[in-house]
Amino acid sequence: MNTSISLEEPATGNISAERKTPEPCSIIIFGASGDLTARKLIPAFYHLCRDKQMPASFRVIGFARRDKTDESWRNELREELNQFSRTQPVNETVWKAFAKNLFYCRGDLNDTAAYKKLEEMLTSFGSGPLRENLLFYLATQPSQFGGVIEQIHRAGLLHKEGAGWQRIVVEKPFGHDLASAQTLNRELTRYAHEQQVCRIDHYLGKETVQNILMFRFSNSVFEKLWNRNSVDHVQVTVSEKIGVGDRGGYYEEAGALRDMVQNHMLQVLSLVTMEPPVSLAAESIRDEKVKLLKSIRALTPEDVAKQVVRGQYFAGAINGKPVPGYRQEPKVKPDSNVETYVALKLLIDNWRWSGVPFYLRTGKNLPMSASEVRIQFRPTPHVLFAAECGQNLDTNAIALRLQPNEGIYLRFNGKVPGMSLGVRPVRMHFSYDAEFGAYTPEAYERLLLEAIAGDATLFIRRDEVETAWQIVDSIRKGWDSKPLTNREFYSAGTWGPVASDDLLAQAGHAWHEPQMVK
Ligand code: BG6
Repeated sequence: MNTSISLEEPATGNISAERKTPEPCSIIIFGASGDLTARKLIPAFYHLCRDKQMPASFRVIGFARRDKTDESWRNELREELNQFSRTQPVNETVWKAFAKNLFYCRGDLNDTAAYKKLEEMLTSFGSGPLRENLLFYLATQPSQFGGVIEQIHRAGLLHKEGAGWQRIVVEKPFGHDLASAQTLNRELTRYAHEQQVCRIDHYLGKETVQNILMFRFSNSVFEKLWNRNSVDHVQVTVSEKIGVGDRGGYYEEAGALRDMVQNHMLQVLSLVTMEPPVSLAAESIRDEKVKLLKSIRALTPEDVAKQVVRGQYFAGAINGKPVPGYRQEPKVKPDSNVETYVALKLLIDNWRWSGVPFYLRTGKNLPMSASEVRIQFRPTPHVLFAAECGQNLDTNAIALRLQPNEGIYLRFNGKVPGMSLGVRPVRMHFSYDAEFGAYTPEAYERLLLEAIAGDATLFIRRDEVETAWQIVDSIRKGWDSKPLTNREFYSAGTWGPVASDDLLAQAGHAWHEPQMVK
């Protein structure tokens, strides 16, 4: 079944018709020779230029150790764009106009003279906004954040007060536990206010994740159902068909809990469950998210044993092709106990959600790549059709499909046509592509634009990060470096360890596989 939504305004591909063009500024990428610059940042800036979303005047400076000129850096990025741009072929006119704004500053992150050179380069752009409005993108190791911030402050480029604006963008991991996150946050805010720090969680840049709030708070019909009276339980699945590949070194330190649950999954959960904010102001939304995270019931080590399942993939097959086990991946210890899968049950102690289980699961090398939130409603109070269809009528559900095939569907029961009283679940389906055409900006495009514009809504606030770490730390404490048991392994290409099914079965629930509806 397809819905048709009538719109007052025709659907457009614009990010927002009312958005003001951001002020001119310079963007400085530290660690510019890394993967992130070529894969995500430059393609995002290129598309923002193409869509005329960048400020009237801007510069992008790549700061890194390798010896390059502006020209050689531009050529290299142009080559890489052929591989990483989401639209092909690259538009040469747009590229040429964009590339004129790219500059390279060679320097070591620990070398004060390099920051002086950076300062001179910025000053050569004039004394106006290109020198004063500065976005520092720290694409470096977190251990280098503190040093870089101190250096840019000393070079007179970063101030808490003064002319223009300066902002710092950082990527996860924001520490590896609460204590290290607190240390990092102290370093980040030593020479900048919290409002000047943009902590990126790329899930918040995804169109469908942003739509969660729109869906909830602009539709009275759903919001009335969004509570313990109607909802039986909620499932959040972020499954990935890929293994850890060449990221074994990083993954050995992180594991699925830190890599996915601490950030993306708790962010999605908080948007799905938070109370309505008093306004759309960044702080109002972030206040509600923090309030929600704080309402998640703390897990004791006994709870962890009962409510959290971890797993690690062994060799199996994906798309019929054999794939190695995690312990055989490059840079992974042959006896590693790092989890590549986590499933957990969380409870939210507040008026809206008391008693409703929230099941979260994520893993690598699962049968499909899909992210979905499924709101499973309570059964009808009485099954009128029991004689014809049995006692177990399918219960209604709303699925928010975050990726791929972005959309929302409602599952309910319908009569099977014919003389008998057959009943069968049917679907009402809203598809982004069908409704709006294929408009799929990369999360980074939206996030970089928000950072330049100074809207903090889509960035994670200090207390959000720290509260999320508290939840994750309690789980790690429960695991207490215990080695994995046989029950915790799963074959690559399957839906995780059996214990994960048991976790839901205890309450009469079962995982629903994300549906590949188009
Ligand atoms: C990253 C994790 O943050 O998110 C990766 O480090 C993971 O391990 C990725 O693969 C998933 O993002 P997406 O956008 O592909 O769902």
